[in-house]
Amino acid sequence: MAAHPDHGGAAGGRPTLDRGLLRALEDVVGSPHLLVDPDLVAPYVVDWTGRFVGRAPAVVRPGDTEQVAAVVGRCAEAGVPLTLQGGNTGLVGGGVPLSGELVVSLRRLDHLGEVDAAAGQVTAGAGVTVERLQQAALAAGWRYGVDLASRGSATVGGSVATNAGGVRVLRYGDTRAQLVGVEAVLGRGEVVSHLGGLLKDNTGYSLPGLLCGSEGTLAVVTAARVRLVPPVTHQVVALLGLGGVGAAVEACGTLRRSVPSLEAAELFLDDGLELVCRVTGMAPPFDRPHRCYLLVEAAAPHDPTGELAEGVGALAGVGEVAVAADAARRAVLWRYREAHTEAVNTLGRPHKLDVTLGLGELAPFVERVPSVVAALAPGARVWLFGHAADGNIHVNVTGLQPGDDRVDGAVFELVAASGGSISAEHGIGTAKRPWLHLNRSPAEIAAFRALKSALDPAGVLNPAVLLPPEG
Ligand code: MLT
Ligand code: ZN
Repeated sequence: MAAHPDHGGAAGGRPTLDRGLLRALEDVVGSPHLLVDPDLVAPYVVDWTGRFVGRAPAVVRPGDTEQVAAVVGRCAEAGVPLTLQGGNTGLVGGGVPLSGELVVSLRRLDHLGEVDAAAGQVTAGAGVTVERLQQAALAAGWRYGVDLASRGSATVGGSVATNAGGVRVLRYGDTRAQLVGVEAVLGRGEVVSHLGGLLKDNTGYSLPGLLCGSEGTLAVVTAARVRLVPPVTHQVVALLGLGGVGAAVEACGTLRRSVPSLEAAELFLDDGLELVCRVTGMAPPFDRPHRCYLLVEAAAPHDPTGELAEGVGALAGVGEVAVAADAARRAVLWRYREAHTEAVNTLGRPHKLDVTLGLGELAPFVERVPSVVAALAPGARVWLFGHAADGNIHVNVTGLQPGDDRVDGAVFELVAASGGSISAEHGIGTAKRPWLHLNRSPAEIAAFRALKSALDPAGVLNPAVLLPPEG
């Protein structure tokens, strides 16, 4: 078993902070926003799955960019490491203080600007939830292109830091593709702000592109300017029962060409559906089970039902189809897919391995991965679901000890050997650092380190995230 610094935190006792620094931080944010009471700190040190439990001397909750800058500046001077946290919906141990860091919660940065209706853009503070951003865009006659199951808690800052993907990447791209400007605090407390939202702006390095996906290791994202997409008035969802993952991948390719309004293609398997039905009490969608399910959604400013029906009708190998056009029935079909995460969590603390394969490799990988897991952990269960058109499969493994990462390593080795990525949309966090080398060359990792020391010379921003320890 690899020694992780991340799973023994609680046993190390509570880290402390210099009193002078505590007083300085209190002066910056005001005493109600410097949490030191262990009961108040507790929710900030454990991740959503319960797998990653850390410890922190305190939680500091700045209310604006200036306060973030002052907090970072003082901590950099004192050499105090920080863990940056948004909605705490991360799944790779990147948002909790696994090495005793001071937690900086960005949730109070929840200012949402007015939608610029002409440009189709809006500026959102790091603490605004993705759902609130979506709603504001809709109210202004636009739409935010990114959507994900954790929309109600996940924040703009967190989704920029991790370059969140979600269920509409096939149509609108990931978070990086929405980003037209960013405001951030660098590692010594300097504020960089480029929120003008100009579409043509070739004036040097693209900070939005660089900071998006940097997982809080280069800067603290305090606000983001995002592009919006035209609204849709009609949505229709179809759930297809199929013979296998190969058929689902083929169906995605065909539907992407024949249904221009296609915006989601989500995959799950028979055992996952059975678990979801057991946990939620939902009735199964069909009378008989199918090996694999593909949930597709078409959305347009016109009714796309005919277009989707024709596209699905032309597919080979579809066992059964359920179609939903009204909001309530669409939500039921989506729940079969989106409830996978909560259903798996009822079985204990899962290992969440979020990977991408080339589409041609997806079906062989799904066939292979259970035996790779079983060889190391015969009692473990593997749950597979994800975003089919992106080649993004979530390998959830239950029945493992939180700190036993042998299975994680074996799955990542298989992914890399198949030409895939060990992180599709959740990031590297702390959990995947030991395997970054599977996807990134020594020269790339050296370039990452050079960027880190240029923007965060004191090394205080998320020091235990993304980059493997040196030496
Ligand atoms: C999802 O798509 O449901 C989440 O990103 C994945 C997960 O819970 O593993
Ligand atoms: Zn996902």
